[in-house]
Amino acid sequence: MQLSPLQSRLAASVIASCLLLVIYVVLLSPQFAFAIEFDPIFPDHDVHEPSYEQLDAVEISEVLDLAPPVYEPNFALFDRSIIGRAAGGAIEMTNNEMKKSNIAPGSTMTYVFQASSVNGKAARDRSEPLELRRSVNTSQSSVADVDVDVDGDGDEDDGTALRPELARRKESTKTLWISANTCLQPARRSSDRTAPDPPQLTLYVSTSPDNTTPGPEQKEDTQKAVVFTEGAVMFNTSIDKDVYLSISAPSVSDKDFDTSWQYNYELVASTDQYYFSFHGNNTDPGLIWVDSDASAALLQTNYLNNDSSQVITTPPYVMFAHNDDNIDIRGVRNSYCGLSSYAQIRNLADGSSGVMTIGLKNGGEQNLTRQEFYVSGLNVSSNYTAILARPPGKSLQTRQEDSSDIGGGIVFQPANFSTKPNGACTFIFNLTFCEQTQYAVPGNPQTFPNATALGNFYDDYVRSKWDNFDKVLQQTPCEAPSTARYSLARGCEDCKTAYKRWLCSVAIPRCEDFSTPDRRFLQMRNIGATFPNGTKVDQDILDKHGNSKAFLSSRNPIIDEVVKPGPYKEVLPCENLCYELVQSCPASMGFKCPRPNSKFSFETSYGQKRPHNSLSCNYPGSAHFIGGAGMLSPSWAGLVGVTGLLLITRL
Ligand SMILES: *[C@@H]1O[C@H](CO)[C@@H](O)[C@H](O)[C@H]1NC(C)=O
Ligand SMILES: *[C@@H]1O[C@H](CO)[C@@H](O)[C@H](O)[C@H]1NC(C)=O
Ligand SMILES: *[C@@H]1O[C@H](CO)[C@@H](O)[C@H](O)[C@H]1NC(C)=O
Ligand SMILES: *[C@@H]1O[C@H](CO)[C@@H](O)[C@H](O)[C@H]1NC(C)=O
Ligand SMILES: *[C@@H]1O[C@H](CO)[C@@H](O)[C@H](O)[C@H]1NC(C)=O
Repeated sequence: MQLSPLQSRLAASVIASCLLLVIYVVLLSPQFAFAIEFDPIFPDHDVHEPSYEQLDAVEISEVLDLAPPVYEPNFALFDRSIIGRAAGGAIEMTNNEMKKSNIAPGSTMTYVFQASSVNGKAARDRSEPLELRRSVNTSQSSVADVDVDVDGDGDEDDGTALRPELARRKESTKTLWISANTCLQPARRSSDRTAPDPPQLTLYVSTSPDNTTPGPEQKEDTQKAVVFTEGAVMFNTSIDKDVYLSISAPSVSDKDFDTSWQYNYELVASTDQYYFSFHGNNTDPGLIWVDSDASAALLQTNYLNNDSSQVITTPPYVMFAHNDDNIDIRGVRNSYCGLSSYAQIRNLADGSSGVMTIGLKNGGEQNLTRQEFYVSGLNVSSNYTAILARPPGKSLQTRQEDSSDIGGGIVFQPANFSTKPNGACTFIFNLTFCEQTQYAVPGNPQTFPNATALGNFYDDYVRSKWDNFDKVLQQTPCEAPSTARYSLARGCEDCKTAYKRWLCSVAIPRCEDFSTPDRRFLQMRNIGATFPNGTKVDQDILDKHGNSKAFLSSRNPIIDEVVKPGPYKEVLPCENLCYELVQSCPASMGFKCPRPNSKFSFETSYGQKRPHNSLSCNYPGSAHFIGGAGMLSPSWAGLVGVTGLLLITRL
């Protein structure tokens, strides 16, 4: 076939064009591939065009929101790189992400929480986004890890990732829970008690587009200002619009404070709940001072579960304690982060537990669980404040499916306790037979150098008495048919329980220092002996009581013979323990209680439980309850009217 000159020219140019195209494709084709993998490109764009329009960013985020789950990680990337720089200087916050920062006195840090970052998700089909949420969560927690871990304190790491279930469950609410904690504050130049406290940080919140940098210099009607209370702040607002928030540090005087120290805070905005809160009354497990001696104290929570089938395996709470004479803790008493920095005695996951031992203890009629804190290394005759807290991000229950209680950290109301003077009383706990006995007992560092040895001495003594009792009980017809039994209402088990409660309370006296002011339920003991410092009891006391055996010796002579404590005061056992024993055990065993009016021995043997009195007599599990009438064992109801009781029961 012959081509015309025109045709051959066309053919030549077609071939040349094809060649060009091939060369073009060979040289430049990777660009086409880049066009869909846009994430490596956008950070570049961002650098060149910092003034990226906010509107565009929102559109992108909404488009991606509707995209299939596989695009979600890209969304998280946009979130930080593009949207994050949108609002002129304000730092972008995302849901449940912790922002931790230093801030110099007199300056302000501004953040923005964009409504679009949560509203789009709320509108999605609820059945679809489970996997989506999980991937958002992972990326958020890794972001938070980077931001948060300034002090390397491992505790906060687990705190930042809320569970996916929780996030999904509360998604439809449109409340933003803003909370912050002061971690550090300027140091005082003087540490005496009249030195002023460092002024508190302030949180400013604006939802007005006219005020995107809330702070002290903005008009009051465009923003809300909330001053921190003892280092913590909580604020909630609806999030139909973007929320602008600032943390502002006050100026502090050079005269009173070392201004080279900055403030440091943690700030979290969440659509689930407050990440940091304080004085949560509904959830307060209560903190009870059980007892102390000159250098140690035991505190416990109320019962944490409602029945013993709810097994609690890990202690859910932490406790901080601080000597009232030391003012370092002032200004951060509601701040988990601040207490972690300033409290003298604290227990943190990083292992700096100092002198605190934490444990769970089961007890009571229903075998419920309390958390206990044993603190040692305390100063004598000192007053302390103890503050119980739940770390952010920890759950109370162990069962995984119960997510209702997960997330926010809470700092609870403080409780007070004090240590005793250096005297006869030594705190014992963790006994094996009298396992409910945990209080100070008459001791002597010369004869029993440590509390464990002293506790074993008392416990072994009680066990030997118990063995005698057990032998006697085996000879009474407990398990006989009901016609032959000593009582239709009570069996041997009741008698054993009552005897053990009574024996542990009577054979192991609860000790108060001799200097404690006189009370009806406090009985002086061993007043003839010398104090550890070599002095004697005042002569007028000896003149008055020197011929009464109840005052001159311990209730249990072996204490004077073996332990040799100095003079002390005994918190008398509750009379109910005796009535219960007499009622529960066979009459043939011969237990009798002294009559309350018989001045002769009741007054020096038993105390009476008074409602709303913090500690008016001793019983297993007694403590310095405040208004704790409800803490009494229920089995005591109806036992008060027992009659016909005479002198009892010697040991
Ligand atoms: C939310 O804020 C309002 C007023 O700002 C306040 O009355 C309310 O108690 C707050 N809710 C919670 C749960 O803190
Ligand atoms: C004990 O007292 C000393 C001296 O007053 C004080 O420095 C120290 O912080 C106190 N320790 C505790 C745990 O109270
Ligand atoms: C000795 O100890 C007792 C009891 O602790 C106390 O009341 C007394 O004041 C002390 N005496 C001296 C001289 O320290
Ligand atoms: C309690 O006693 C047991 C042994 O009887 C011991 O293993 C445990 O460490 C003790 N607990 C405390 C807090 O002293
Ligand atoms: C307590 O004292 C006993 C001797 O009385 C001793 O064997 C034991 O090791 C001591 N325990 C501690 C913890 O010091």
